[in-house]
Amino acid sequence: MMKGVHFLVAAVLLALASSFAFASDPASLQDFCVAIDQYDSESAVFVNGKFCKDPKLATANDFFFSGLQNPRNTKNQLGSNVTLLNVDMIPGLNTLDISLARIDFAPYGLNPPHTHPRGTELLLVLEGTLYVGFVTSNPDNRLITKVLNAGDVFVFPVGLIHFQFNVGKTNAVSISGLSSQNPGLIVIANSVFGSNPPISADVLAKAFQLDKSVVTSLQAKF
Ligand SMILES: *[C@@H]1O[C@H](CO)[C@@H](O)[C@H](O)[C@H]1NC(C)=O
Repeated sequence: MMKGVHFLVAAVLLALASSFAFASDPASLQDFCVAIDQYDSESAVFVNGKFCKDPKLATANDFFFSGLQNPRNTKNQLGSNVTLLNVDMIPGLNTLDISLARIDFAPYGLNPPHTHPRGTELLLVLEGTLYVGFVTSNPDNRLITKVLNAGDVFVFPVGLIHFQFNVGKTNAVSISGLSSQNPGLIVIANSVFGSNPPISADVLAKAFQLDKSVVTSLQAKF
């Protein structure tokens, strides 16, 4: 009798486990993956992520990066510089759902409004003062902001538009963990006004309720 109950419990657990295992598609690690019917020697094969090295051949350097302590050059238009350590920089991150970024800010430097389509971001301020925020999705589009100082931590939920702005008079430095080996980056201004080829100025003038000349001058900037 006991044995029968154990068997039943085991069978139910197994059924649950297998239904969980097949409950969803694997998360995508790239913008898209157009299916092809058959192997075609003309086209390279892409997988969702990277191929895996034989684990026996893995070395410590596959899991290692050195140099994140060095300040980055922020002498650019925005006054910020993002150093992202994703799977391309640390091959051992493949399949592990995590990556790391250092962001340097000159005084009044900005990491402009952007989203990570595949990763939530958890940011820690190491030095300086950052005004940060994100906007919730439709229909509320609520702006949630905070001024952060050294030691403060803030969450930017996956996919939401967010920014970081150095409102202090000194440099600022932050470190972020992101919940993907390849979180992706969409910078709003660059995507909208700097796409290649450009989005029709009529489309953007109507969408943003702008004069077409304003749209073309914005397009010239990005
Ligand atoms: C970021 O800093 C690195 C090293 O200091 C530099 O090579 C790179 O050009 C900088 N990137 C930008 C966008 O300024």
